[in-house]
Amino acid sequence: MASYKAVAGTQDILPEDQPYWRLVEQTVEDVARLYGYQRIVTPTFEETAVFQRSVGEGTDIVEKEMYSFEDRGGDHLTLRPEGTAGVVRAYLEHGLFMKPQPVKLYYIEPMFRYERQQRGRYREFNQFGYEALGETDPAVDAEIIGLLMQIYARLGLRDLELHINSIGDKVCRPRYIAALVDYYRPLYDDLCQDCKVRFTKNPLRLLDCKQTQDQPKIEGAPKIMDYLDEDCAAHFAEVRRLLEAEDVPYVVDPLLVRGLDYYSRTAFEVMPLEFAKRRQSVVGAGGRYDGLAELLGGRPTPGIGFAAGMERIIELMQEQKIPAPAWPHPLVYVAYVGAEARPEAVRLAAELRRAGVATTLALGDRSLRAQMKQADASGARYALLIGEGELERGEVSVRDLAAPEGDERRKQVSIKRAEVLAFVHPGASR
Ligand code: HAM
Repeated sequence: MASYKAVAGTQDILPEDQPYWRLVEQTVEDVARLYGYQRIVTPTFEETAVFQRSVGEGTDIVEKEMYSFEDRGGDHLTLRPEGTAGVVRAYLEHGLFMKPQPVKLYYIEPMFRYERQQRGRYREFNQFGYEALGETDPAVDAEIIGLLMQIYARLGLRDLELHINSIGDKVCRPRYIAALVDYYRPLYDDLCQDCKVRFTKNPLRLLDCKQTQDQPKIEGAPKIMDYLDEDCAAHFAEVRRLLEAEDVPYVVDPLLVRGLDYYSRTAFEVMPLEFAKRRQSVVGAGGRYDGLAELLGGRPTPGIGFAAGMERIIELMQEQKIPAPAWPHPLVYVAYVGAEARPEAVRLAAELRRAGVATTLALGDRSLRAQMKQADASGARYALLIGEGELERGEVSVRDLAAPEGDERRKQVSIKRAEVLAFVHPGASR
């Protein structure tokens, strides 16, 4: 028989990594509560058109990366490559525009993209994301960016850089794109293969090219900042002013354009300082998407949000040697000797667990010595021991495993069976 492995670009998250996942999820939830965001869960797959319309036809995601399939009923479906489109679809479908605005939502979900494999870039990965729908006020932009930075800070991450830009809206961006195309036209023959496609399909993405030959062209290209109309420029100025009021440091990055089509005005990305140029190290990104609801056939609804890659965040935490609290050890290990004592040991363990005491029960026919070894390895504070003698006397023997081997305190003491629960109070873990 062939042996199986996890599919390329996917990974198992083993128990030893779970403390990090729990910590990140917990932090995401704590911060949601602080800022008044509520959780939403949308389906893992949507109609393919939801992503084609929103993320956009000329984007890498839609062109090359979607896990799309026809189901047995002939419907065209796609495993979600990102979370925003589904959230906006749900907002429209359930009439959340009837609620007080903005509607503030967050999610923690796996995403799927058929990407070229490299470190930090996976085909199934997990994001947490926040979306605020129904409000144009730049204060929401500043708040949601500040919220993202707050999450990193609470996780203990250091040396991150926040890049922001405004990419204009449907009024001023076309003028900028026209200028960009005019600038690139005479350079066309000298562009890399991907950029030739971008030139016709999605000129804004020309600024995102990573090929060395195209870098000088990017540097000389017109800057969107010079093409913003008055409203977009005022919006961006206010976002910056409020970020400063929040004490959130940022860098204005005129080349930041984002890889999804639904954005307008504010766009931002967060990355580790030393990797400022490597796209696969971006640990969180987002922006405003005021036209997205309309693209999905809904009423005009402003929105802004971000998503952050949890694998990348955890890898960075581990690189920066940030600890995550381990899963608590059991408080009690119940050992027994002899067939007679076995039901009593099972009864005692069940009783402790019902009372909320984390308990590990010895299994099999092991010697007392072997059981004590296991008790030590389990990290339990107390070993409780039941043998024939204890059974007869209505007692349980206790060893305090917190004391080292040979120490007086480790010596066995006897307590009444009825007093066990009072003895092993849950506050006493090792
Ligand atoms: P995105 O830039 O495509 O935006 O992804 C957001 C984050 O997800 C990235 O910064 C990165 O941390 C993580 N990520 C993306 N692709 C991968 C991958 N293949 N492997 C590991 N991590 C990855 C969005 O998804 C938008 N929906 C964000 C948004 C929400 N905009 C507005 N609201």
